Amino acid sequence: MIFYFSATGNNKYVASRIAEATKDSITSISECMKKESYLFSLKDGQNFGLVIPTYFGGFPKIVIDFLSKLKITISANNYVFFVGTYGAGAGNICKEAEKRLSAFGKVPNATFTIKMMDNWIPYFDMTDKAYIEKAESEAEPVLADVIEKVSSHTKELNGGKGMPGITQKIATVYYGMACSTNKFSVSDSCIGCGVCERQCPVQAIKVKDGKPEWIKKKCTLCLGCVHRCPKNAITYTEKTKGHGQYYNPNVKPE
Ligand SMILES: Cc1cc2nc3c(=O)[nH]c(=O)nc-3n(C[C@H](O)[C@H](O)[C@H](O)COP(=O)(O)O)c2cc1C
Ligand code: SF4
Ligand code: SF4
Repeated sequence: MIFYFSATGNNKYVASRIAEATKDSITSISECMKKESYLFSLKDGQNFGLVIPTYFGGFPKIVIDFLSKLKITISANNYVFFVGTYGAGAGNICKEAEKRLSAFGKVPNATFTIKMMDNWIPYFDMTDKAYIEKAESEAEPVLADVIEKVSSHTKELNGGKGMPGITQKIATVYYGMACSTNKFSVSDSCIGCGVCERQCPVQAIKVKDGKPEWIKKKCTLCLGCVHRCPKNAITYTEKTKGHGQYYNPNVKPE
């Protein structure tokens, strides 16, 4: 049983590839949250995996919310693994995973990180084809190694030193501020198709009179609305303008 959260496909791809090798099922955290589905049971010896992106050196808010609602008991003979994808630096994500997953009954057996395409569009330029090709191709051998290790139930905790506590605290505060939905705007090229509303994992968008409105003050800042709009009509601050859009080419959007 592999839970994943993904806005632009990287973690969906990683979860799918691992599941293909281990014959596990994958479950979208966004779907669980939408359906309020939190009760799961693991069979004897079954794998439990969590595959998520790094946000500001730690967990996305929606994943923290999901874990606080998730009802599942993990036993000593379930293999528990975590994969955190990232684009520039994975911060404290493995240490955080150890702490958060231990609350379900056992310390994880393995924590991994995979450097992938960085979808933080205010900084990275998704029109830079060379950067995208490099990021996608360099991720493949690391993913293959993770698949091999999960398949053979390797024990490997990769917490390391991570970010200093104070830096992580500052990053978390910055994340909270950055989640304000007043930073989004929409251009006249919007055609009112509703993709942004449908794919938002926290129902923060409502299309009214043919244009999206952000109906919650804060969201989880996945940037899926910016990346997935078919008209590239949504911006998140001026910094995303001209930076294109990204979705992992190996998987289909939800
Ligand atoms: C709000 C936000 C914050 C991010 N913070 C970090 C970060 O601290 N370090 C990093 O390396 N990548 C960061 N990223 C990049 C993502 O972790 C990375 O691109 C991930 O693979 C995206 O996964 P997805 O395609 O499944 O959504 C951030 C992305 C977003 C949207
Ligand atoms: S996805 Fe883009 S085009 Fe469609 S309603 Fe939203 S902003 Fe408009
Ligand atoms: S409003 Fe956009 S960035 Fe925020 S959670 Fe919804 S889809 Fe993600």
